[in-house]
Amino acid sequence: MRVILLGTAAGGGFPQWNCWCPSCRVARATPERAHPRTQSSAAVSLDGERWFLLNASPDVREQLGRLTPEAPSGMRHVPVEGIVLTDAELDHTLGIALLREGRHLQLYATAAVRAVLAEDSRILPVTSAFAQVETTDLPLDVSVPLRYRDGSTSGLSVTAFAVPGDPPRFARRELAGHTVGLLIREAATDATLAFVPGCGALDAALLARLRQANLVLFDGTFWTDDEMIRLGLSERTAREMDHLPQSGADGSLALLRRLNGPRVVYTHINNSNPILIEDSIERREVLAAGIEIGDDAMSFALP
Ligand code: MLT
Ligand code: MN
Ligand code: ZN
Repeated sequence: MRVILLGTAAGGGFPQWNCWCPSCRVARATPERAHPRTQSSAAVSLDGERWFLLNASPDVREQLGRLTPEAPSGMRHVPVEGIVLTDAELDHTLGIALLREGRHLQLYATAAVRAVLAEDSRILPVTSAFAQVETTDLPLDVSVPLRYRDGSTSGLSVTAFAVPGDPPRFARRELAGHTVGLLIREAATDATLAFVPGCGALDAALLARLRQANLVLFDGTFWTDDEMIRLGLSERTAREMDHLPQSGADGSLALLRRLNGPRVVYTHINNSNPILIEDSIERREVLAAGIEIGDDAMSFALP
C-alpha cells in the first residue's frame, strides 16, 4: 500500500493567511526553517495510479498534482477513485465541492458525517448539483471494501472507529460517529494504516487499535493545551477544541511513544505549533521519542 501525505497543516494551512505568530513568521521569512504546508489530507493506493483520498481539503487542487506524475493519454483524468472522510470539518470536506468537475465522485462516510454534509454545510447537495455523488455508509467498527468507480474491488478496506471529540461547531445535531479514525487495510498483505487527524483523548482501547497498524498518522495540532491562549490567538484550550496536545505526562507524545511497533507520524499540525520550526527544542523532543513530523509530499510504502 502506498500512502502520501497530501497536506500536513491544520485548518488555515501554514503559514495561515492572517497569522503572524512566531512559527508563521519563520515560515514566511525563512521557509527552509519552517516548511510551508497545505491543509491536512492523505491519499492511499495499491497501484500508484488509482487513489483514495482521506479527507478532501480546500487545497485539494494543488495537492492532486502529486498523484498524477506523468501526462495521462486521455482528455480527462481523475486520479481519485473515492474520498473517505473522518468528519465533516471544513478543512476536511471543502475539497469535495472543489472536485465537482470529476463528474462521478464516491464518498465513504459515517451516517453522522453525511448528515452534517447534507443539512449543515450543505456540501453534499451543492456538489450533487454538478456531479453524481455516490455515498457508501461506514458503520462504526465494520470493515467496508473500497471500490473503484467502475464498481470493482480495490483490495483495500476501511474500518471507521469513533474518537473523542465534538461535532463541527456549525452542526446542529450531535450524532454518534461524527468524528472517527480510519483503519485502511490491504487484504493481500494485511498492511494497515491508521489515520486519526483529529482526536480529543487517547485511552487504552484506542491505543490498542493503533497498535495494529504499520503506520499511524495522528493528530499533531497543538504542542501545549494553552498554546492558543498564550499566543493571544484564542480563548480555548487544545482539549476544548478536541485536540489532545502533544506535550506533558498525559499528552499524545508520552502515550504514542509507548506503542512499540507502528511508525508514528504527526499530521494536521496547527500553524502555532513550535514543532513546525526545524531547529526548535520541541521538534527535537518529538524526534527523540521516535515519532516523526509530517511534511507535505512525504510518502510511505506499507508494510
Ligand atoms: C479543527 O480541527 O478543530 C477544525 O478543523 C477547526 C476549524 O476548521 O476551524
Ligand atoms: Mn481541522
Ligand atoms: Zn500562525
